Amino acid sequence: MRIKGRSYQSIWIDPGEPENVKIIDQARLPFSLEIKKLCSAEDVYDAIYSLSVRGAPAIGAAGAYGMYLAALEMSSATRYREHMHNAAHYLISCRPTAVNLSWAVTKVLSSISDYGSKDKIAEETRKAADEICQAEIDRCREIGNHGIKLLRETHKRKNGSAVNILTHCNAGWLACVDYGTVTAPVYMARDEGIPVHVWVSETRPRNQGARLTCFELANENISHTLVTDNECGLLMQKGMVDIVLTGSDRVARNGDSANKIGTYLKALAAYDNNIPYYIAVPSSSFDLSITEGPGSIPLEERDPGEVLYMEGLADGKITRFRICEAGTDALNHAFDITPARLIKGFITEKGIVKPDEKSILEKIN
Ligand code: MRU
Repeated sequence: MRIKGRSYQSIWIDPGEPENVKIIDQARLPFSLEIKKLCSAEDVYDAIYSLSVRGAPAIGAAGAYGMYLAALEMSSATRYREHMHNAAHYLISCRPTAVNLSWAVTKVLSSISDYGSKDKIAEETRKAADEICQAEIDRCREIGNHGIKLLRETHKRKNGSAVNILTHCNAGWLACVDYGTVTAPVYMARDEGIPVHVWVSETRPRNQGARLTCFELANENISHTLVTDNECGLLMQKGMVDIVLTGSDRVARNGDSANKIGTYLKALAAYDNNIPYYIAVPSSSFDLSITEGPGSIPLEERDPGEVLYMEGLADGKITRFRICEAGTDALNHAFDITPARLIKGFITEKGIVKPDEKSILEKIN
């Protein structure tokens, strides 16, 4: 998608520099557009941990390339098998909630046909990572093709007036290599001439909605309004939201879904106001090994400093400032779990899937 009219992916390898991976540093957006070079598995770990690369599919793609960089790090003295297994374990340990990370890293690890040659390991891991990246792009495009049907129906039901979508966090192209899950149908609706408006909830504490989703939508000229996380229930009560759309970091077999903290409250408000809540999510974010969310999906707990401090632009500089009394305790779960009963459906690349075990097992494999 575009930044100031120029096309980007959130992660890529430049053909002239195959020994490193490039990402758009999401921790600096929207204040500064910076491209970061990742040269080792450790660089990838740090980028994922610090949210320079974030969002479930993008984390998976980064982890996959982390395996390729781990292969490039080997010398003739390295024990190849041990090194690559250690790298996989290390990368997977970085962030626990998005299943895409372990899924992608494991897929790359299993692409290694034998551990005899460093060059061959590098070639095979690079190929597998490239394929994962391309497949995520294709999945998002297909999610767009299925999701737009819902927006078309809503537009028709409203006799041609604008479709109001509410989203939380960032499930746009930055989170997904390209297109985005939530944003793919939005961009397609725009291209088809369907008027759309997006309510973007700020997404405390790291403000991915305010910082990233607004940035993406502005660059694509999509009408949008930033609201506080606390505003969303009122908007729904007032009839100002037609559909709630978010991404997901991991969906269990029964349809329970983990996503950015605060998603559960939006789902509850949507349910109470009879507003459909759909999750736009690729099959790579389903974890069919777990039967339900609570107790099975690991919920990341992050540095309380993310709650105690905020970051923004002051006098042209990215500045961090404390928002409460010094010494205040804070708790910072990064994700919550929305039970399947509050979800209307999953918009996947394989079609719209009902939030129950039978439908999920039928469509997702
Ligand atoms: O902590 P983050 O910013 O990685 O959390 C990301 C989200 O919760 C996204 O909404 C989710 O990964 C879906 S991405 C399509």
